[in-house]
Parts: sequence; C-alpha cells; structure tokens
Amino acid sequence: MKIATIVGARPQFIKAATVSRVLRKTDGLHEVLIHTGQHYDANMSEIFFKELQIPEPDYNLEVGSGPHGKQTGLMLDRIEQLLLKEQPDWVLTYGDTNSTVAGSLAATKLHIPTAHVEAGLRSFNRRMPEEINRIATDHVSDLLFAPTQTAMELLKREGLADRARFTGDVMFDSILHYKQMVTEAHRPQSLGDLQDYYLATIHRPENTDDPQRLKNIFMAFSELNKAVVIPLHPRTQKLIKKGGVPLGENVKIVEPVSYLQMIYLLKHCSMVLTDSGGLQKEAYFMGKMCVTLRDETEWIETLENGWNVIVGADREKIVQATQGRKAGRQTEAFGDGRAAEKIVEIIKNEEIHR
Ligand code: UD1
Repeated sequence: MKIATIVGARPQFIKAATVSRVLRKTDGLHEVLIHTGQHYDANMSEIFFKELQIPEPDYNLEVGSGPHGKQTGLMLDRIEQLLLKEQPDWVLTYGDTNSTVAGSLAATKLHIPTAHVEAGLRSFNRRMPEEINRIATDHVSDLLFAPTQTAMELLKREGLADRARFTGDVMFDSILHYKQMVTEAHRPQSLGDLQDYYLATIHRPENTDDPQRLKNIFMAFSELNKAVVIPLHPRTQKLIKKGGVPLGENVKIVEPVSYLQMIYLLKHCSMVLTDSGGLQKEAYFMGKMCVTLRDETEWIETLENGWNVIVGADREKIVQATQGRKAGRQTEAFGDGRAAEKIVEIIKNEEIHR
C-alpha cells in the first residue's frame, strides 16, 4: 500500500516524523514524502529533516512564500500532477497550514482516500487562516484523526462523527521520543551564559500584522523581571524592523531554533509566552506553565489547573500572568503516547467506499 505524506511547514515536519517512523517499519506500507516547499529557509526546513532523521523528501514542489491564493493555488496544481503520477492508495495531511488544505483538496478530488492528522481543532476565530484550513480539510477528508476528546466532540457537532477516530496527539508521542535525545549540545550558542529566562515565540498574523498588538507584546516583554529568549520566525523579524518596535535590554532575540534546541529551551525556561498552538502543548508536556498571547486557544485542555492562561496582546495582563502562578495536576487528554501507532493501524485496515 502506497501512502503519500504531504508536509510543507515547520510543525508538520515534526508531526510527520513521528508517524513516518512507524509507517516505514510496518510491513506492506510504502511512503512517498512530498514537501510543498512552503518553508524553505534552512533553519525553517532542512534542519528538521536532518535532526529528526526524516528521510529526504521524494519531491520538493518549491512553492515558497506568497499570498494565500497564490501559494495554495500553486500547491494544488503541483500536488495534483504528482498524485496523478504516483497514484497513492492514501494521502496523509497534517495540521492546519496552506499545505494541509492544498494536499487534502487535491487528493480528494482525484478520489484518493485522504486522512487528516490533528483533526477537529477549532478556535472559532474565522479571521485565522488556519481555522479556514482546518474546517475545509476536515470536511473533505475521509478519515479524521482527533488528538483529544474535545476534538472528537467538535467533529461530531459538524456531522463528521462517522469519519472521526480518537488517536491521541502525535506531538505528545514526539516529545516523549525526542526529549531523550536532548543534551547540553542542544543549548543554542546565542544563549551565552544565561540561566534564568522566559521562552517566547510570536508569529501569528493577528499579532505580527497589527502594529499595536506587536508593540504591546514587546513592551510587556521589556517589563518582565528576567530575560525573555525569543527564537524569532522570519515573518516577525521583518515586521519588528519595519514597525520600529522598541525592545528592552532583557529581550534576547535569536534565530529560529531546531526542534531539539527548542526542547532544550523548554526544559530550562521558567515559563513560556507564545501565540503558537504547538508550543502551548509542548510547554504542557514539558511541565512548564504557559501564557498564551492570543484571544482564544484550540487546546482548551491546557487551561485546566492553571497550566495555561489566555491574555491576548494586553500589556498588563501579560506581565501579571507571569507573576505568582501555580499549576495543579495534568490531565491525560492527549492520549498515551501511541497516537502514531494507532494512526498507522487504522490506515492499514480501513477501507474507504465513496
Ligand atoms: C505557517 C502556517 C502556520 C504555522 C507556521 C509554522 C499557514 C497559513 N500558516 O505560517 O499555521 O503555525 O507556518 O511556522 O500555512 N518565511 C521565510 N522563510 C521561510 C518561510 C517563511 O522567510 O522558510 C517568511 C516569508 O516572509 C513569508 C512569511 O514568512 O512570506 C510567511 O510564511 P508562510 O509559510 O506563508 O506562513 P507562516 O507564517 O510560516
């Protein structure tokens, strides 16, 4: 059975690595790896393949950056041609990026069974491009792998219960696997001798493309009582320069880091401040409290018992959320660390009739 995996952006390399590892050691399964080229800088793409020991992609469609319509359109065109050539039995897509929606749409129109990993996530904020990608991908895909029971419930509400399967979260599997490999060698050099710091990331358009929100966030960072280490996405780098955003001396901007370096930073930080969905969960898995710089979260399980709080881009709330925090017990909402095994087992045995 031939399975075409479609990836394109940083978080998908991590998720796919975990499933591919299981898939490639399962008898009777053969994977074709397609990289759309959405992320192309070495520190946004290549480094992940090397470090996570993902085989080189069989194809790189070199789509690159661009407005949503153009980027997604180019992907659709190139993925369709490739699927016609490769004729896979299944197409596997991950998460909520433009590569996800392009992959699932191209496949399903060619009547190729399509499975979506990390299905059923909703922020209910229709201004987020990822929200539109998730809704479209879930509704066209044949099998929906839900990371949590909340996701299962949301899929049911949208009439998709018969296609939904609870597997747990592949990112939980991933942290369990890769955290054992992290050593002092993964400490980013740019950290110098810094020991006590908050770890922050910002890349969501709702923050980066709104100069006031971006300024508020960085003003709050500058007021915090210790260093703030920010591995910065290229999009935010550019906008900070353009917007003349003032940075306090405690704010330490570093280049984007690899996955193992990120796990190192998580392990040693005192708290996480982020607008990333993935990092909210990774903080949780690593036992660190999180401050979410958005107005909502898809990962509501992380809010339980004080592990995560939502503060938007409100300067005072951001500062307050770093002070006097305590967290309680964690839930087992993200599965048992065997999501990838379950996904591969289901794909192997499921027959799709249209
Ligand atoms: C994408 C995903 C987002 C995901 C994020 C992970 C969509 C709609 N968004 O956002 O859900 O959380 O990836 O990182 O698919 N750029 C570079 N080098 C690169 C890649 C991007 O410089 O290798 C810069 C370019 O200026 C580009 C901008 O980042 O225009 C945006 O890149 P794009 O891939 O469109 O979206 P992301 O913000 O990375």
